[in-house]
Amino acid sequence: MSDRAGIEDCCQVFAESFETSNLPAMLAVERTVLGCDYGGTSWTTRRQAEQITDSLELGPGTRLLDIGAGSGWPGLWLADNGDCHVTLVDLPVNALVKARRRACRDGIGSSVDTVAGSGATLPFRDCSFGAINHSDVLCCLPEKRQMLRECRRVASDGASMLFSVIAISPRLLYADQRRAVETGPPFVEAPGDYADLLSEAGWRLVERKDVTAEYRKCLRVLVDALDGNIELCDALGPDVVSETRRHRLEQIAAVDAGLLCREIFVAAAG
Ligand SMILES: C[S@@+](CC[C@H](N)C(=O)[O-])C[C@H]1O[C@@H](n2cnc3c(N)ncnc32)[C@H](O)[C@@H]1O
Repeated sequence: MSDRAGIEDCCQVFAESFETSNLPAMLAVERTVLGCDYGGTSWTTRRQAEQITDSLELGPGTRLLDIGAGSGWPGLWLADNGDCHVTLVDLPVNALVKARRRACRDGIGSSVDTVAGSGATLPFRDCSFGAINHSDVLCCLPEKRQMLRECRRVASDGASMLFSVIAISPRLLYADQRRAVETGPPFVEAPGDYADLLSEAGWRLVERKDVTAEYRKCLRVLVDALDGNIELCDALGPDVVSETRRHRLEQIAAVDAGLLCREIFVAAAG
């Protein structure tokens, strides 16, 4: 399949996933797994969101960009707790509509812009943002180099960027590499180490942190929360719940085999 067809499929899958992740039964699961209820589809926990606020030094006057923002996790939470303005960008419009509704419900509507667009061709002027976040987005699109370059273009001098990403562990045998690709997020294969991609795109690496253990813990809590979840089976059907649970168990096995990891990168512009 071409990248273009893959991207369109992926966008459709995400559009559907935000309908599911915002069902009341799924929001209850999300509260157990991540400690929030924004219909999130990344693995950013509430604790990690607090660390994003600190690392990006969010505060009144900061213009934050959250790319691949989905229905608002963690961008809306960051704007609310960091007392700053956020621009949420994503492709599925249904997710952005949910994010806007949530922002209005939370009384922060005037601090939030929602923009339909791609992280690989950001529809903003140069030097527009002082802080950028993206949670598990680079593993969901093929144009990783282009997105990091676009982030650098729209970042003002001295801006910070924080992102999390699920990646394939380095130096795997071919069969293990294929298993990681099949088990991980849709575009988990990267053209190089993220530290190198950052540097090529004009970013200076400030911090790199392995959060695979937290990711694994979330996967386990999710699998347990799906087990015999009657509300979810009523909403989605038992086959969907059981297939989702099987897929998450495969991911746990891949993490335990050392094939997949999750990392957080903090970088500075200039
Ligand atoms: C794992 S989800 C994370 C969503 C959200 N940040 C969260 O934590 O719930 C990855 C997101 O990347 C978005 N995405 C994929 N390709 C994109 C692109 N080219 N431009 C912007 N967002 C994209 C998807 O639509 C999806 O919302």
